Amino acid sequence: MTGKSFRVAVIPGDGIGVEVTAQAKKVVSATAGIFGFSIDWTDYPFGADHYLSTGEVLSESFLDEVKGFDALLLGAIGDPRVKPGILERGILLTLRFAFDQYVNLRPAKAFPKVPLPVDPGGARLDTVVVRENTEDFYMGIGGVSLEGRVEFPVACRRAAYALDGKVSAETDPPVPMAVQLGIATKPGIERIARYAGLLARKRGETRVTLVTKSNALPQIYGFWEEVAEAVFASEFPGLVLEKANVDALCYHLVRKPAAYGVLLCPNMFGDIVSDLLAGLSGGLGMAAGADIGPGLSMFEPVHGSAPDIAGQGKANPLAAILTASMMLDHLGETEAARAVEKAVEVFLAESPREDLPVELGGRASTEEVGLGVIRWLEGISKE
Ligand code: NAD
Ligand code: IPM
Ligand code: MN
Repeated sequence: MTGKSFRVAVIPGDGIGVEVTAQAKKVVSATAGIFGFSIDWTDYPFGADHYLSTGEVLSESFLDEVKGFDALLLGAIGDPRVKPGILERGILLTLRFAFDQYVNLRPAKAFPKVPLPVDPGGARLDTVVVRENTEDFYMGIGGVSLEGRVEFPVACRRAAYALDGKVSAETDPPVPMAVQLGIATKPGIERIARYAGLLARKRGETRVTLVTKSNALPQIYGFWEEVAEAVFASEFPGLVLEKANVDALCYHLVRKPAAYGVLLCPNMFGDIVSDLLAGLSGGLGMAAGADIGPGLSMFEPVHGSAPDIAGQGKANPLAAILTASMMLDHLGETEAARAVEKAVEVFLAESPREDLPVELGGRASTEEVGLGVIRWLEGISKE
């Protein structure tokens, strides 16, 4: 019984985000009852419906208000009625950047009875993507011109630096064009490399794999390699930093899905590789994630709003539930966090096939899966 009380902000968001978050909240509340802590939830409506009815993406006051919470739980953002980028950048990326959530932690694990598309042989798939979450091509710095002349500001604020300037370029003859800048800084790379090194040590690994592409993009990813190598040489003697070009890594992953431990990724490669690993470990509905920073951290599954299955009760809520377990761990409720993960494991191991989520070949609705996990959670806690 920890007796603690936590304030958690929730953005269920769009599509299946709403459906899976409801189950994650129920599981956390049940856990709180069992382990003797309490959660005070505050729901926020941001997402497509709110935007379409009010014109507001994120309220001015929200960023200020949410600072005072212990964590933020998020479902998924994005809706086919809204142009791609408006809500995703306006909500998700804004939050990641505003709170300097520089770590996007995405474990990919094989769970009992979850069918895998590629047999990992005798090995157990247990890989974690450590994705840099504030830089690279995600900074939103760029421009588009139909007249062959771009001129755009290069401006952003990060905890470690303020970036200011502009880019101007033109083509002769004028041809329509688009430019997107990718930026990597030494402090940006150092802190995520350090996080990956510490995590690898904790996991008892002998190596970390840096996902790179310096053969084609030597400025940005060559720099990444140099800075990350220096961190490992000076701070992690005995831990090898191996490099893998992202194209070859994808090739190796589909042939040997359990061949890697900690994957240290620049932002964009981390996005892509985490969906690949989610597929290899049983589906996006199993893939949990956390955006961790020095201030408010945010907990969101890897998957999106899945408009193709939204509103049908077919979404697998286990990713959101495992995400909530990561949140409990972050809040210091480690026993409760472990119990949730264990309940998911036992639920999967013990349920007949038809009681599993649709994604895993069963027929259970999103809500039935949530209830199934809670039933095991209550059973485990009585043991
Ligand atoms: P997606 O992750 O939403 O869906 C990809 C595929 O995986 C779909 O076939 C979907 O049905 C399936 N899937 C995803 N989660 C599932 C679950 N829990 N259970 C069962 N099946 C699941 O990716 P998308 O289709 O490219 O994107 C849809 C929208 O979501 C877009 O607007 C996109 O920008 C947004 N998006 C948001 C986030 C986020 O909020 N973190 C992440 C990715 C995509
Ligand atoms: C993710 C998503 C986001 C990303 C999108 C929706 C902006 O794909 O969380 O993986 O690219 O980071
Ligand atoms: Mn993604």
